[in-house]
Amino acid sequence: MDIIEKIKKLKEERNAIILAHNYQRPEVQDVADYIGDSLGLAIEASKTNASVIVFCGVDFMAESAKILNPDKIVLHPEAGARCPMAAMVDATTLKKLKEEESMDVVAYVNTTAEIKAIADICCTSANAVKVVKSMPNGVIFIPDENLGKYVKRFVDKEMILWPGFCPTHQAISPEDIENERKKHSDAIVMAHPECTPSVIDMADKVASTEGMVNFAKKSNAKEFIVATEIGLCYRMKKEMPDKEFYCISHAVCPTMKKITLDSIIKSLEKMQHEVKIPEEIMEKARKPLRKMIEMGRG
Ligand code: 13P
Ligand code: SF4
Repeated sequence: MDIIEKIKKLKEERNAIILAHNYQRPEVQDVADYIGDSLGLAIEASKTNASVIVFCGVDFMAESAKILNPDKIVLHPEAGARCPMAAMVDATTLKKLKEEESMDVVAYVNTTAEIKAIADICCTSANAVKVVKSMPNGVIFIPDENLGKYVKRFVDKEMILWPGFCPTHQAISPEDIENERKKHSDAIVMAHPECTPSVIDMADKVASTEGMVNFAKKSNAKEFIVATEIGLCYRMKKEMPDKEFYCISHAVCPTMKKITLDSIIKSLEKMQHEVKIPEEIMEKARKPLRKMIEMGRG
């Protein structure tokens, strides 16, 4: 039996679905039941009828799926696929800051369950501006400073920004964009809000990964420079074969790439790497996550 057939059979036996983030390897995207951005994946996870969710993404995404589905089994095929930005906030410092400042905490979904449990509301790159605008007063925004600075462009309220960042997006430079522009002078520049302000200043469109897919589908343009992780270009080309997408070749998230077809098979066969979160943390983290889902896209 070939590997794809094997995954299909295991999925049926386990009543499982595969959810995959837009940065996953092409072959992983190809076996997924749903591919999307963090918000889309959280929404999908909250409404599935499957008994098992195989989550192909990084730790915080799989944890969110579990928090939203405490009674389901959530498998994360590579337990070591962790988002370094999500590890940049520690609970003790955040609690102290929240107490000192008496401000609400808006947590980017790229945070651990323990940190979400302290937050008042979560957001993703698809609704960060909308979420911060909805808050009655100033906020502590964690952990992505670049996303926080992007939000500040649209919101006139005090924001304390946590100094976190995504190493993959931080490494995309204005020179990278300029080099692509020289090669493709008609191309539209799209950038993820985790990019630095100088890269964002060069973009025609700033959006979440799904936002970029939707924008490119609706646009009359034929060529796009894509300032985010390279995995997104695979999905874009597959869904829009008549358009060209130019990614930044070094923009690779190593932890997103840890998951392979082999690890998916192993996790379904052995039901291994089940996401486990203490009950009281899940309870507390569910509220800000649900609020984020209720906000919808920005
Ligand atoms: P999206 O929610 O836009 O897919 O982004 C998630 C992420 O980790 C970006 O680095
Ligand atoms: Fe985390 Fe950056 Fe990878 Fe997204 S691309 S999962 S923010 S390290």
